[in-house]
Amino acid sequence: MRIIITDNYQEMSKKAATLVASQVNIKPGSVLGLATGGTPVGMYKELVKMYQDDEVDFSEVTTFNLDEYYPIDQTNDQSYAYYMQEHLFQHINVAKDSMHIPNGKTKDVDQECYGYDQAIYNAGGIDLQVLGIGTNGHIGFNEPDITFESGTHKVTLDQETIEANARFFDRIDDVPKEAISMGMKTIMQSKKILLLANGESKAQIIDKMLFGEISPNVPASILQLHPHVIIVVDKEAAQYI
Ligand code: GLP
Repeated sequence: MRIIITDNYQEMSKKAATLVASQVNIKPGSVLGLATGGTPVGMYKELVKMYQDDEVDFSEVTTFNLDEYYPIDQTNDQSYAYYMQEHLFQHINVAKDSMHIPNGKTKDVDQECYGYDQAIYNAGGIDLQVLGIGTNGHIGFNEPDITFESGTHKVTLDQETIEANARFFDRIDDVPKEAISMGMKTIMQSKKILLLANGESKAQIIDKMLFGEISPNVPASILQLHPHVIIVVDKEAAQYI
């Protein structure tokens, strides 16, 4: 596991964008696993700049997002589908049918989850998975649990996650209570993982994830077992390392 500590959020974002762009430059047909939340916004901004400066080309890339609220419409400005358009997809040249996000308004959740895993498998698996981390250690929307869920599945969000994500909604009651998330097996099968974290609120969980017991109670702790993980954290999130 490589840990890169940066001075601030902007540097974290630049470093992360450079790593993603390198992946695409080395393998233009890369399959990228993408994350949402506040943390990767700066990284996406940097990637858009790099694309505009001809430093990276996404035309052959395939993307799979980690998760989506459920139920939610893609036109809802709090959906992750909307977020990805806003922060990345509308600014770069990734092909329309190469972008995948779980369908938050599916009528058949089981089929959606099964189909999502199949599509990842058919694409050859994920080359580089970008992750953020919840304050409770969740990755994607894999909340602390007594077991690790393997495939894409529907989850009930923890109160802590609902409260953390309420800042993006008008009212806490507007935060969906459920989501569809890639499972731990899919994440762990990614060839490389790039996890980002910034700010003091992530310091404790970063310490637990890196040095604590490997347990589904801290889902991100399983990354200790992955052979190729890069963690990019700013110095506030790295203060207990
Ligand atoms: C959200 C997302 C995660 C994200 C995490 C942290 O709920 N499902 O993919 O990594 O919570 O979010 P933030 O980056 O806003 O702290």
